[in-house]
Amino acid sequence: MHILITGGAGFIGSHVVRHFLTRYPSYTITNLDSLTYAGNLANLRDVEGMTNYHFVKGDITDADFLMSLFHEHRFDGVIHLAAESHVDRSIASPTAFVVTNVLGTVNLLNAAKTCWQSNVEGKRFYHISTDEVYGSLGNKGMFTEETPYDPHSPYSASKASSDHFVRSWHDTFGLPVVISNCSNNYGSFQFPEKLIPLFINNIIHNKPLPVYGKGENIRDWLWVVDHAEAIDVIYHKGKTGDTYNIGGHNEWSNIALIRLLCRIMDTKLGRAAGESEKLITYVTDRAGHDLRYAIDSSKLQRELGWVPSITFEKGLELTVEWYLSHGEWLSNVTSGNYQHYYEEMYAGR
Ligand code: NAD
Ligand code: DAU
Repeated sequence: MHILITGGAGFIGSHVVRHFLTRYPSYTITNLDSLTYAGNLANLRDVEGMTNYHFVKGDITDADFLMSLFHEHRFDGVIHLAAESHVDRSIASPTAFVVTNVLGTVNLLNAAKTCWQSNVEGKRFYHISTDEVYGSLGNKGMFTEETPYDPHSPYSASKASSDHFVRSWHDTFGLPVVISNCSNNYGSFQFPEKLIPLFINNIIHNKPLPVYGKGENIRDWLWVVDHAEAIDVIYHKGKTGDTYNIGGHNEWSNIALIRLLCRIMDTKLGRAAGESEKLITYVTDRAGHDLRYAIDSSKLQRELGWVPSITFEKGLELTVEWYLSHGEWLSNVTSGNYQHYYEEMYAGR
């Protein structure tokens, strides 16, 4: 079994690569990543020496390169995570999201279709997507696999578009695809532009915690290790052509989550209770900010037997401990270009 994992140097991708390498030593795993600001080979230091692991630096927007990679390696499966993934960046510079998330996905679909056309038996193209394609919920209800698509940000619109292309390659060309749509992930190796690692880093450095709007938006948080486990189950047992929602049944308003994070940080840093909360600063809301996400993952639980393994309180504590014990990783990824991004993104908010 030779699986191509795209975006394997990113946050979720690195957990998926590690999971497959260690759980399935007989598989060969090729990690294809162009190493954007979010891609970091340091995320895979512990597994990079494994003989069944290969890294290829390459861009999914390069169709010719992808075609020759597929012809050279004749992959049995693809797990596609490579993407531009940050909503705020998609508001600042939408085009990159169309190019990578839409065109890059179409290039991959084409390469798989061309390479597998003579025999799709045993092949699988697994596209990793997001709950944001479903839009925003009010106070009640959850996203199911039947919820109509209603994306609002350029990021979610690009992911919705890529999902449609994946389904169309199944319906039109018979490509054996499967899709999952997951809620907000948290855990180790997440780039500190996303809420939890950004706020951990800011608390460490006593910097303001920029809460968008009133902090009332709600997200459904899932430990990234549980997402990797769900991806394993869906890759091996998911029904071809189907979609599976993945979520933690774990809704938190941003402000409640931030207060919990502040309490954990005070304890771990030996600071007085309430010290980190003083850093909370309400700033201008994100444009088009979705109010609430909540995933109904009962199909995945019922049909494939997956359940999350850890409570949010425990997972968040482990996550804080990881960032506090990986100061070098944090300072490496927050230097250089990222400093520039941070100043631009939060100036005038
Ligand atoms: P990330 O930004 O941490 O990682 C993305 C990776 O893709 C990086 O390693 C980057 O270098 C690589 N990449 C970007 N453009 C590329 C290109 N043109 N060619 C090759 N590689 C390229 O993202 P993440 O948070 O790990 O998300 C991974 C996937 O999971 C994305 O598809 C995202 O939409 C989806 N997802 C993320 C979450 C979440 O909470 N983070 C939730 C649900 C779904
Ligand atoms: O739901 C899945 C999605 O979750 C993934 O598809 C995306 O790739 C991932 O980035 C994430 O999107 P969000 O926009 O929900 O995550 P983010 O961490 O950017 O923000 C979480 C919430 O916190 C959101 O309501 C905005 C808010 N926020 C975020 C930042 C960065 C703030 O209040 N302040 C901030 O500085």
